[in-house]
Amino acid sequence: MDKIVEITDLSKAYVQGHEQVQVLEGINFFARKGEFIVLLGPSGSGKSTFLNLIGLLDDSYSGEIRLYGRKLELLSESEKAALRLKNIGFVFQFDSLLPEFTVLENIDMPLRIAGRGDIPRALGLLRRFGLEALAHKFPMEISGGEKQRAAILRALANNPGLLIADEPTGNLDKHNAKIVLDDLKKANSLGASVLMVTHNEEAASCADRVLHLSGGRLEAVK
Ligand SMILES: Nc1ncnc2c1ncn2[C@@H]1O[C@H](COP(=O)(O)OP(=O)(O)O)[C@@H](O)[C@H]1O
Ligand SMILES: [Mg+2]
Repeated sequence: MDKIVEITDLSKAYVQGHEQVQVLEGINFFARKGEFIVLLGPSGSGKSTFLNLIGLLDDSYSGEIRLYGRKLELLSESEKAALRLKNIGFVFQFDSLLPEFTVLENIDMPLRIAGRGDIPRALGLLRRFGLEALAHKFPMEISGGEKQRAAILRALANNPGLLIADEPTGNLDKHNAKIVLDDLKKANSLGASVLMVTHNEEAASCADRVLHLSGGRLEAVK
């Protein structure tokens, strides 16, 4: 089986003041290549914490996380950075485009950071998603929906196997949420597995699997 993420008995606690807050408790999870998975759960249930652990943004946890068969605990910082840059794209609720660069340059940024900037590839991505008109605009010149679409393309720049999206439509109206969801579906059909936290019902209805996180535990809904 083609599992790109495999999680066994994952637990995570935060220290808040003098208290220890248990956020994730004994979670088991996997994602197969090509899947579109939606993660639901109330605010504060640990959804972002979970995504950040999978996305290598946080490495304090107990249990085991494997990405592409590699146990994270055994990787050096530079191996993790390389794994992340090459295999994982992240989209957040609030856009994180760099204001002083054009949309095209923002999309090319992960490639530039990896030392292989490729403006033609970034332009190709914009064309494939019908967004070439945005190429030379700056983030402040485009709408919230367009920014989020550009952020998705930036996450796809390195052609990652896994796209992680944390409430990517949370800040958008219904119309723009649908457009962004369509982009994520398209990214999925082009080959990226998608792991998405959302409250969007349409996203849940079109997912291959829907999971629900609450009380530190993960349960399958669909
Ligand atoms: N850096 C942190 N330090 C302490 N507590 C945190 C931190 N990040 C999140 N938490 C706590 O962990 C819980 C889960 O947060 P989070 O993963 O952001 O939930 P969700 O994304 O489901 O809303 C919350 O109670 C939150 O207050
Ligand atoms: Mg969150």
